[in-house]
Amino acid sequence: MANRSDAAGAARRAPLADELTICALVIRDTLTGRHLDAALARLLDGTAGAAAPSHVSARAVRDMAYAAMRQMGCLRFLAARLNARKPSPLLGALQLAALSQLLDGRRAAAVVIDQAVAAARHLPEDLGNRFSAGFLNATLRRFERERAALLQQAADEPEAVYNHPGWWIDAVRKAWPQDWQRLLRDSLEQAPLTLRVNRRGTAVTDASRGLAAAGLPNRQVGESALVLEQAVAVAQIPGFAEGAFTVQDAGAQLAAPLLRPADGERILDACAAPGGKTTHLLQLADCLVLALDLDAQRTGRIQENLRRERLPVHPSWPPPDWGAVVRQADATRPQGWWDGEPFDKILLDAPCSASGIVRRHPDVPWHRRRGDTTTFAAQQLLLLRALWPLLRPGGTLLYVTCSIFPEEGEAVISAFCSHLADCVRKPVSTSWSDGQAILSQLLPTSTDAREHDGFFYALLSRQS
Ligand SMILES: C[S@@+](CC[C@H](N)C(=O)[O-])C[C@H]1O[C@@H](n2cnc3c(N)ncnc32)[C@H](O)[C@@H]1O
Repeated sequence: MANRSDAAGAARRAPLADELTICALVIRDTLTGRHLDAALARLLDGTAGAAAPSHVSARAVRDMAYAAMRQMGCLRFLAARLNARKPSPLLGALQLAALSQLLDGRRAAAVVIDQAVAAARHLPEDLGNRFSAGFLNATLRRFERERAALLQQAADEPEAVYNHPGWWIDAVRKAWPQDWQRLLRDSLEQAPLTLRVNRRGTAVTDASRGLAAAGLPNRQVGESALVLEQAVAVAQIPGFAEGAFTVQDAGAQLAAPLLRPADGERILDACAAPGGKTTHLLQLADCLVLALDLDAQRTGRIQENLRRERLPVHPSWPPPDWGAVVRQADATRPQGWWDGEPFDKILLDAPCSASGIVRRHPDVPWHRRRGDTTTFAAQQLLLLRALWPLLRPGGTLLYVTCSIFPEEGEAVISAFCSHLADCVRKPVSTSWSDGQAILSQLLPTSTDAREHDGFFYALLSRQS
């Protein structure tokens, strides 16, 4: 067996070393607050500085980074046991990336360790490269030697078992005492690619057949929702560039039909970016949609999606004809953007913890802090109170969050409705392939009959 300094010095660089380096940068950036997808895009497309070397597989880096985020509780537990002192954030992230690969076990441990050590010798932004290589060599080899004992210890630590922060585990257990273990485990599974068919252009059955004929077998999981058996890049989906499909979870696809848009109606989509629900409303009816979002960059994505889906966009409100008007604005301050004419319908897809979409965004629990749901709930109530007076008597407001925490769902709606004489809550019902269901809290699930993320829906009617 090579001694420590030999092994640290002898490692030859292969693509895996560069992939581990980029993955480490992604993990470091994600753990310091950047969204995982944004960190990946920035490092893979070169916006962060030099573009990734051509031999680096973007797919491999993405898979490694997602796998590491899904094992983060266990990885942090192991790092705490293996490290006598705290490494720099980047070296620590490289160690997490390598440990994740060792846990995964698909690559030989010797190869992973050699390439992690090779990566450590050339870490960008790191001054102590010799130390870094020795540190990784020693801790990764120790993990391999003591693997069974360390994993046995990890089995007693909830964070390491469920791979979510401890406070998050407690919150899910408190909210869903019957389902908490399933919910935590399922949220570590990769969600499938779900498409919404643009029914202005094609019937769902025809779209499904067309995809299958193009080598993309799929199954229908909602009124307009098709799940692809194998996820592919959207560029490989025939018709995607022309707006025949939108990537949208089947649970999210319930929102627009629940609001029942009709031709000629004035609808406010108060928190609209990137426009998934705006475009769905406009695919269902010739309505007029004012799409607002606070975030200027994300507002641009609403425009892009409307254009790709060939939906009319107008410069000012109200538009002369059906279509959308997109504005960057704060929905809690209508005095800055409202023309005083009431809306027939309002969609409030409020900012929230995103606890219902962890399958797609495994970094979410690691960005949140205990107490965040209280902050979100206050923001959600503020939005509801600001928007309710803009609804015409007889009009409908649909409140949505992609959260499974009752503090952002039932509690917000009860607090809001309890002081309003003109607010009536209507049942929210929808049909799945296994039958009709009344829902308000939709928990994430993946079965033969249902496949969707977690959402909360409340339909409120303003009395005349
Ligand atoms: C859950 S996302 C909306 C998703 C969108 N409805 C869709 O289906 O594509 C919530 C959005 O609310 C926006 N937001 C947060 N606070 C806001 C405010 N005060 N006014 C308007 N938009 C806000 C955020 O920028 C974010 O884009």
